[in-house]
Amino acid sequence: MAERNRKTKLSIIGAGNVGSHVAVYAAGKGLADIVLLDQNADKAKGIGLDITQAMAMASNDRVVIGTGDYADTADSDVVVITAGLARKPGMSRDDLLEANAGIVRAVARDAVKHSPNCVLVVVTNPVNTMAQLAYEVSGLPRERVIGVSGVLDSARFKAFIAEALSVGASRIDAMVLGDHGAQMVPLVDHCLVDGVSIRELMPPEQIAAIVNRVRHGGSEIVELLKTGSAYYAPGTATVELLECILKDRQVTLPCAVYLEGEYGVDGLYVGVPTLIGAVGVEKVIRLHLSEAEQRDFDLSVAHIRERLEVLRSKA
Ligand code: LAC
Repeated sequence: MAERNRKTKLSIIGAGNVGSHVAVYAAGKGLADIVLLDQNADKAKGIGLDITQAMAMASNDRVVIGTGDYADTADSDVVVITAGLARKPGMSRDDLLEANAGIVRAVARDAVKHSPNCVLVVVTNPVNTMAQLAYEVSGLPRERVIGVSGVLDSARFKAFIAEALSVGASRIDAMVLGDHGAQMVPLVDHCLVDGVSIRELMPPEQIAAIVNRVRHGGSEIVELLKTGSAYYAPGTATVELLECILKDRQVTLPCAVYLEGEYGVDGLYVGVPTLIGAVGVEKVIRLHLSEAEQRDFDLSVAHIRERLEVLRSKA
């Protein structure tokens, strides 16, 4: 992290729905001055002006500068990669694999060339694999390349439980690990409402239905929107992570990180609980999984590895 006496700088690559919502939420929280880069520079500039003017109304001095030039992102503390295609109805995140791989490799190279000390936050899907590519091409240490996955999926898990039990989502502790896709792992045996296990509060069939809905929570929205994927919750999840980095919060969040033996996994980006602070990933937190959770986690890891191998076999 940069010296304290200099202004914090955040760059967001990709001014689509997710990128522009990350910009407006991060500016609204006053987290940093923001550069929003898009290959359509005018679009990024227009969104930047719009958000900056909104902040002026809210007595918020943060600005968002739109650009198409990586030189403007130089010396960022954090760079967020949202560039790439989003899903259309009927598509899985895995269907985006090859198209987004090329985009993320190029973006990560350009971004890190101008901000060699940044923490790289990857949002583009399929996010575990895109974070892995960004890590590989950037040459950054693993603590500085993080994928956004479990924060979003955990929020969906909480929202569905809150709805089913008619309680506020803030009363629920819930975490989702593994892949960000149909094989994600909502941790049922760690899920608590006011400290009480969800297994005490709901019959198994209802829990199973919620787990299934969490696993397809992104697709549910894609099918409804018909023109793209979710962005309010993905944008909020990303800013939650950014806030923990930029304010050195030292909070445990489920994120996609490069595992080096933890959870019995080596050399792969997998969603696990991580302690997040100014360094990026300060620590991978070891959680003891139940037998059922471990079985699902192993299946999820196998799917992530297989997807990476599919991509490598085509390279
Ligand atoms: C979702 C997409 C952004 O889960 O991955 O909504």
